[in-house]
Amino acid sequence: MYDYKLLIRGERPLEGETYVSGGKNTSLAVLSAALLCDEPCVIENLPDIEDIHVLYRIIKHLGAKVEFDPKQRRMEIDSTSIHTTEVPFSFTQQMRASYYVMGALFGHFWECRVGYPGGCDIGSRPIDQHLKGFNLLGGEIRDEGGMICLKGKPHGAPINFDMITVGGTINVMLAAAKAQGNTVLLNAAREPHVVDTANFLNAMGARIRGAGTDTIRIKGVPKLRGVTYTVIPDQIETGTLMIAAAATRGNVIIRGCIPTHMEALTAKLLEMGVMVTEFDDIISVKVNRAHRAIRLATQEYPGFPTDLQQPMSALLTRANGTSEVIENIFDNRFKHLDEMRRMGAQVVISGKRAYITGVSELRGAPLMAGDLRGGAALVIAGLMAKGETEIINPVYIQRGYERLEEKLSALGADIRRAKLS
Ligand code: EPZ
Repeated sequence: MYDYKLLIRGERPLEGETYVSGGKNTSLAVLSAALLCDEPCVIENLPDIEDIHVLYRIIKHLGAKVEFDPKQRRMEIDSTSIHTTEVPFSFTQQMRASYYVMGALFGHFWECRVGYPGGCDIGSRPIDQHLKGFNLLGGEIRDEGGMICLKGKPHGAPINFDMITVGGTINVMLAAAKAQGNTVLLNAAREPHVVDTANFLNAMGARIRGAGTDTIRIKGVPKLRGVTYTVIPDQIETGTLMIAAAATRGNVIIRGCIPTHMEALTAKLLEMGVMVTEFDDIISVKVNRAHRAIRLATQEYPGFPTDLQQPMSALLTRANGTSEVIENIFDNRFKHLDEMRRMGAQVVISGKRAYITGVSELRGAPLMAGDLRGGAALVIAGLMAKGETEIINPVYIQRGYERLEEKLSALGADIRRAKLS
């Protein structure tokens, strides 16, 4: 299935209309939250991507009755038949978001034994804040031969995160939803998927207030009822498509997105001279002038998302002047720029800063995708480059973007799969 590479012939402007799939990171959190439910749930608008299939296999392994229809983008989960709270490392190492199973199992069954999470290699990714939260909620934590074991009846508590963590905020929210008493999460992440997960939990009967601000208040409830829930569109896919449109000097209408989630990116694209117009659930991106260099620093939401730093820095390799990109969230998220040097990109990396001087052309080259958003950045580089770009290891891209090649092809890109020789 993965023995292919991507071939891209660049310099073709993207034109036409496309659409955004359901949010990857939201879906992973919402599906995990369904494990807390005391009745069957239906989750809709799931993206058909590898990470969702991995989570489906984990949920099945737990013994939940689960039916996934990738064509309908829908999963039905009945967690009342769960018969184990152990998830081996062979499952959890397949993706970072497997950490959510911990919060959900602890919250529902008061115990679990779960392998450490895997995920993209973008720097050190500890889970100490998740564990701190579980511990303050009453979980006794042990490391048993590389497995995290949690035991104890969760009770409400005030929890002040030492740094803003998206996964930590959601995971502790899952564990606290059915805990006895009140929990307050301070210094909480405000990302759209934190809000969407809280909305889903509330739809099931949870009492969570303040999601989307830095203080989330949770009043534990004993039971959660089954609902049908539709996850929000993918913020990062929307941004990737916007950047691809800008990079190819195209004219693209992106349907089914939430423009308010895109404000940080929209502001930066406007600063570069890209025309971005927002409607209710549509964004249009059009280019009619040269791109200007900018200064960009990643921040937690509502700041510029780290997940769009890589696609955006690919775009900046062709802007007029020298851009400065500061990556504040992860410590190793510039590997795509090293690859792009082989295409002629001019980049100086110094710690968490990358200085990118725009060049008049990039040349197609063989490249290696090292992580999901880095892979998307290389696709964007290929779309801009003269000649043919070959991307080895595109499996990373497939983990997080639904039908990216098909969507780009439909907009006029020359992108195709070829057998690995
Ligand atoms: C989530 O990762 C996303 N993953 C990431 O998306 C995203 O890049 C990241 O949030 C930031 O927005 C999922 O939602 C599945 P964090 P997460 O906890 O939860 C440090 C993608 O490409 N930290 O907000 O792992 C951490 O090292 C992926 O879709 C601790 O030190 O991110 C990092 O420097 C990649 N201790 C910072 O906080 C902890 O216990 C933010 O991490 C937790 C985090």
